[in-house]
Amino acid sequence: MQEYFDGNRNLWNQWTKIHFNSDFYDVNSFINGKNTIDPFELDEVGPVSGKSLLHLQCHFGLTTLSWARLGAQVTGVDLAGEAIKTANDLAKQIKQPASFIESNVYDLPNKLDQQFDIVYTSFGVLNWLPDLTRWAKICFDYVKPGGVFYLAEYHPFTWVFDEKNPDQLEVGYDYFDQEVLIETIVGSYADPEAVIDQKESYEWAHPMGEVLTSLINAGFQLEFVHEFDFSNYKRYPFLVRNEKGMWVMPEGKARIPLMFSVRANK
Ligand SMILES: C[S@@+](CC[C@H](N)C(=O)[O-])C[C@H]1O[C@@H](n2cnc3c(N)ncnc32)[C@H](O)[C@@H]1O
Repeated sequence: MQEYFDGNRNLWNQWTKIHFNSDFYDVNSFINGKNTIDPFELDEVGPVSGKSLLHLQCHFGLTTLSWARLGAQVTGVDLAGEAIKTANDLAKQIKQPASFIESNVYDLPNKLDQQFDIVYTSFGVLNWLPDLTRWAKICFDYVKPGGVFYLAEYHPFTWVFDEKNPDQLEVGYDYFDQEVLIETIVGSYADPEAVIDQKESYEWAHPMGEVLTSLINAGFQLEFVHEFDFSNYKRYPFLVRNEKGMWVMPEGKARIPLMFSVRANK
């Protein structure tokens, strides 16, 4: 397993440098005040001012620091040292107090002993985690009694499609696959032309039942599970932008779930 984490760390260290300069992440707009949290997340998480917030798998901190700008006392955690270094530099640059920790989520209990009002994690996180039972227990332990866990993520149903031919939405992957998925890396989702010397990523599919059951078994009480017919980026070439800036199926085409969110209480 360690070799998978090492490979993914190497990949994310390289991707961080590319993402920092990409149009996809648009760091300049962020520095100039843009909040990178989706409006539906702001509604679902609710006011954060004065609350402590742990952001797991925070990448280079844009979303963590967006929560900080809204008044949360934030701690971000990520596997990639390059992401943590960039997040710390950005926090200084925009003068937001924030704490960032370089850690594998699974090793965090050895490095951080504190509980939070909110444990938050979002978009492109679960696929990097081999064991959701352990992950959910770690999330549970970091939430204060009376606190909240919130997850916003791409819907696991979308993982079945072979994105080599995204126009067709052909089923190419097994929804229930338990094995590691070894993917060949070409560029990055934020810059397909980027040159990367890490040639593989190591990922895991997690069906919706597994995600929710792991949270329930950890001890959480689920408050809601929302499935969305929109995506926060143009996942497929045929998606069209709606009036809220989200990407949806064009009129007349049958909808599939593109993202989901979970809010749970302790
Ligand atoms: C797609 S990003 C999430 C980013 C966030 N939604 C954004 O767009 O900024 C996934 C992050 O998970 C981190 N990651 C992957 N495996 C991890 C692990 N085992 N422990 C902690 N972080 C991990 C990566 O380094 C990466 O920064």
